[in-house]
Amino acid sequence: MTQHSKTMTTTGGNPIADNQNSLSAGSRGPLLLHDYQLIEKLAHQNRERIPERTVHAKGSAAFGTLTITEDISRYTKAKVLQKGTVTDLFLRFSIVAAERGGADAERDVRGFAMKFYTEEGNWDLVGNNTPVFFVRDPQKFPDFIHTQKRHPKTNLRSNTAKWDFWSLSPESLHQVTILMSDRGLPKGYRNIDGFGSHTFSLINAQNERFWVKFHFKTEQEIENYTDAEAEAVVAKSRESSQEDLYEAIERQEFPRWKFKIQIMTKEQAEVCAFNPFDLTKVWPHGDYPLIDVGVMELNRNPQNYFAEVEQSSFSPSNVVPGIGFSPDKMLAARVFSYADAHRYRVGTHYEMLPINRPKAEVNTYNADGSMRFDVPDFGDAFYEPNSFGGPKEDKAYLEPAFPVNGDGDRYDHRIGNDDFSQPGALFRLMNEDQKAQLFGNIARAMDGVPREIVDRQIALFDQADPAYGAGVRHALGI
Ligand code: HEM
Repeated sequence: MTQHSKTMTTTGGNPIADNQNSLSAGSRGPLLLHDYQLIEKLAHQNRERIPERTVHAKGSAAFGTLTITEDISRYTKAKVLQKGTVTDLFLRFSIVAAERGGADAERDVRGFAMKFYTEEGNWDLVGNNTPVFFVRDPQKFPDFIHTQKRHPKTNLRSNTAKWDFWSLSPESLHQVTILMSDRGLPKGYRNIDGFGSHTFSLINAQNERFWVKFHFKTEQEIENYTDAEAEAVVAKSRESSQEDLYEAIERQEFPRWKFKIQIMTKEQAEVCAFNPFDLTKVWPHGDYPLIDVGVMELNRNPQNYFAEVEQSSFSPSNVVPGIGFSPDKMLAARVFSYADAHRYRVGTHYEMLPINRPKAEVNTYNADGSMRFDVPDFGDAFYEPNSFGGPKEDKAYLEPAFPVNGDGDRYDHRIGNDDFSQPGALFRLMNEDQKAQLFGNIARAMDGVPREIVDRQIALFDQADPAYGAGVRHALGI
């Protein structure tokens, strides 16, 4: 055990003589207000929590490295993606719907949020363990999340809300099929793949743009629980994924993922049969093969859960030269939403906290605000432009023009989008056992849902594949 020999102090650094007994008038008497040590302790306790993340509140994280083993400089000039580069990273896994005290072994999507501390600033790739998502227009995101959280009156999670929303949102069918499949309840965070999910850009030294999808393939094997297995796990531990990740790293069994990309050229995107910027679609691997890039390893546990994991703040708006966005509407909303959430959840200067702080030099004029805890040394150059040698823009970092077209309007995203072919194809890829699991998982998840909603959802399964709808009907006994 560690021996501590230092004298305990207040947060002001003043030595503490007695940390066992409050200051009172007589041994049985009332307390004295000038017991600043007691007051400091109680006041601090009242401030020990920050708001939990509105989604992905429960999570586990570790430090590691990303090593680039292949040459992809024809696609990108990003220094973090050049062959031979090793970059430190922090990866936070999470479950989406549950609160901070939720159980790890729940049927839910897993978050896969990576922060790469590159020499060109932080690159945050805030993905999931699924390549697609439930909605394709960010207008629907808060509504979708409400269905995953608690009913305002009963304070219970509601199967009815979930299936009501999904059955009224056919674009969710692909993700729902993945969630309800045998892969919807991972054993632990080491046993999942990670996906950037959205289409992003890569930009090379000639300033040419390529569309890209990012993939991380687990080397630990994909492993999942059945609903029944998970029930037994949750009865014993709500922290099964945290235990598995933490203990594996302590044993020096460092989990690894192969890092791969898919590339689509501008010309391919123009003739692609589906919208390549639609987050409910995958890019078929036959047409857009996986390209090896490197390997990611996790090899160090956080020292302090609150300081490092709870305060970690990931944002898709953190990108580096050579990596950019795409016309994906969901991505655009996320580029705004995360930093906004962090300013509220953690505070104005959240990016100065050790876990979020870039390893690259930060030269910004955004300086004041609560909890500025270092001293900016601006001299006279505290605005821009200035004549005093302050940091300046560099046009060398300009991206190629971003292709957009069309009139500003609220386009109905449900028109002209095929929501059924890809979920149908996924269903047909499943073997008989996997199909049986899918039907059973759906039937259990529909417990208590009104018949009208069930029928509306089964009609969507039918459109993906008649055998899909029939299997669910059979599992439900209807
Ligand atoms: C967390 C918003 C879609 C992955 C969050 C948070 C917000 C948010 C506000 C909490 C941030 C914090 O307090 O630190 C949104 C919005 C979306 C969206 C507005 C759509 C318009 C997605 C998608 C993915 C995703 C499509 C994955 C592909 C994550 C992950 C976290 C997260 C992994 C947890 C990050 C962490 O570990 O701290 N999201 N989200 N989200 N979101 Fe999203």
